[in-house]
Amino acid sequence: MNDQPEDVGLAFIDSCDGMALLMIHGFPFSSAMWEPQVEDLGSITRVVAPDLRGHGRSQPMPGDYSVEMLADDCMGLLDFLAISGPVVVCGMSMGGYVALEFFRQFPEMVAGLILTSTRALPDTAEAKANRDKMAKKAQTEGVSAIAADMLPKLLSPKTYEEDEEVVEFVQEMMEWTSVEGVVGALAAMRDRPDSTPTLAEIDVPTLVIHGADDQIVPLAEAEAMAKAIGAKMVVIPDAGHVPNLEQIDAFNDAVTDFLMTLQDTHDHHHH
Ligand code: MLT
Repeated sequence: MNDQPEDVGLAFIDSCDGMALLMIHGFPFSSAMWEPQVEDLGSITRVVAPDLRGHGRSQPMPGDYSVEMLADDCMGLLDFLAISGPVVVCGMSMGGYVALEFFRQFPEMVAGLILTSTRALPDTAEAKANRDKMAKKAQTEGVSAIAADMLPKLLSPKTYEEDEEVVEFVQEMMEWTSVEGVVGALAAMRDRPDSTPTLAEIDVPTLVIHGADDQIVPLAEAEAMAKAIGAKMVVIPDAGHVPNLEQIDAFNDAVTDFLMTLQDTHDHHHH
């Protein structure tokens, strides 16, 4: 039995019995980002959503993190909950980097993948340098400075205009993150491997969801990723980088349809 969740003190959501949906949040968010999914989907699937180390209510572990470590923390949580799998893994942005790593490390645990607002390509040299700049800024000026820099890029024009609650929620959620979590996760993203070679190896049903107005991960990159996997792609209008909060119904419908299809495929298998 892996007792990692106790070692690293991870907090998490676990919604019901039934097939598990492991939902991995983005940077520098927490499991709180999945509240509307827990509410709508939590009774049809067992939503398990960790706060990654350093994020949300989990412990602010110091040092550089890696996507291997974060994927391992997720596996440790499933072990802790005695979920022997397979599960559907849904990752948003950085959570998508972790989901792809989770698939590489534990393919037998993955029944399906949902990749949202994410990409397969690694950081460019410029992006890597920017991670280090952001880490310094977090250490000198605090996480609220990082949140302030990120906030204007995260959401769609429509969300900024019409959904003040979502804007405020996202800002607050970022500000809950520890400096350790921000610095650790920036290193994990900076050093993440190129997942392009993994795409051809993905042999489970996969859904790619992307906001039409995502300013952080260009839609074209997500489309190329979906094509390389042979995944179903859902583009959500009037959503930026956080479609699950900006267009809750469209996002939840896409996930529900995908889970139903998986269930059908599964039933078919056993006839
Ligand atoms: C995220 O939203 O998780 C990150 O901003 C993604 C990234 O910076 O690569």
